[in-house]
Amino acid sequence: MKDKIAALRKEYPALGSAFEGRRLVYLDSACTVLKLKRAADEQRRHLLELGGCGGKRSFHALAAAMEENFYAARSAAASFMGAEAPEEIIFTAGVTDAVNLLANSFPFTAGRNEVVLSPLEHNAVFLPFERLACAGRIKLRVAPLKNMRVDLEALDKMTGPKTALVCLTHASNIFGGREDMAAAADLAHAAGARLFCDDAQYAPTHGGGGAQYGADAAAFSGHKLGAPYCTGALYVKRDLLARLRPSRVGGGTVEEVSFAGGRYKVKYLGSYQGFEAGVQNYSGASALAVTLERLEKCGFENIRAHVSGLVDGALKSLEGIRGIRVLGRREDLLEGSLISIVPEKKGFSVPDFNLFLNQQRGRFIAVRTGRHCADLACLASGYRETIRISFFAYNTPDDTAFFIQALKKYLQLL
Ligand SMILES: Cc1ncc(COP(=O)(O)O)c(C=O)c1O
Repeated sequence: MKDKIAALRKEYPALGSAFEGRRLVYLDSACTVLKLKRAADEQRRHLLELGGCGGKRSFHALAAAMEENFYAARSAAASFMGAEAPEEIIFTAGVTDAVNLLANSFPFTAGRNEVVLSPLEHNAVFLPFERLACAGRIKLRVAPLKNMRVDLEALDKMTGPKTALVCLTHASNIFGGREDMAAAADLAHAAGARLFCDDAQYAPTHGGGGAQYGADAAAFSGHKLGAPYCTGALYVKRDLLARLRPSRVGGGTVEEVSFAGGRYKVKYLGSYQGFEAGVQNYSGASALAVTLERLEKCGFENIRAHVSGLVDGALKSLEGIRGIRVLGRREDLLEGSLISIVPEKKGFSVPDFNLFLNQQRGRFIAVRTGRHCADLACLASGYRETIRISFFAYNTPDDTAFFIQALKKYLQLL
């Protein structure tokens, strides 16, 4: 395992970055993962060697090569996500784009118009539904938090005959750990509802996602795996996909337009084709496929074990430090890839500490502080901000040691 992780580590040029003479110590992979060199190379190759138009618009050899490459990327995403077929994959610009698409295309009915959210949902999931609720199109319910995780029993009680959709993040971006997606699928389906799984934080260090546990829809963001920005995919189970009504329409989505009786009639293409309006991010999709292939070659079981080891080591170091508190339970945190801490010592200022981390001798330590776009979780827990350290395959125990050293130094200064 160690060899495979070490070999992968060499493929992230940004690890060698320095800003104003300070070397990067990157503990912010939950925000975005540093980019894999071969992903950048593939995007460049695709743009320069292909660079034509996909989407079955033109019928010449270059367009055919583009389409073949795009479909191969779709197959790679389908296999990664655990879909039954590539036709269940809609390419998106990431989870935000995917949830906006799902929320605005979902077949709510007068009798089934409730959406139940976990309190751990990122604003990317919360806000599209909150807007629909404000417009009076759905009723929104948010389940409570328990030990920094979703209270599944309460979520179960809130899910009933009016529930159309349950949304649950597979791994929280603020409190870490992972959620029991199979249990969530069972409870949603028992009520006749659908389940959406947000794999943004789960996919990078576990591999795959909610489809493998019975979710009807799931999404991940490519940039959180080291692929280019604005890549990602939405999986929608075939029978649900057939019932969605495209919210974004345009070129490439139409089977036929007819005119009769003074009106136009538009027949949209089936499966993913009805949802990918306009020219797509073909080069990004190709680079995403290369990224998935590289991480799969390293082995997600190895990435998982490595990251879990880093979380374990960091928890051990944090346990002895007075003046801060680790949020969540150890056994839960080991299942995730990040740790949130909050200050307890008087005078500890999170923004000041952030600045302090930026100004270490010879190094700057990149972490994330604040609300992490997890406003529901902040409201439910009462924490207004946290300091989050997050890990990926390229991190080493030395990265944690630099952070711990700086944290201790800062606490001593208070
Ligand atoms: C849990 C979770 N969901 C959704 C998102 C949104 O992802 P993106 O900005 O790639 O659309 C993020 C990003 O931080 C996230 O952590």
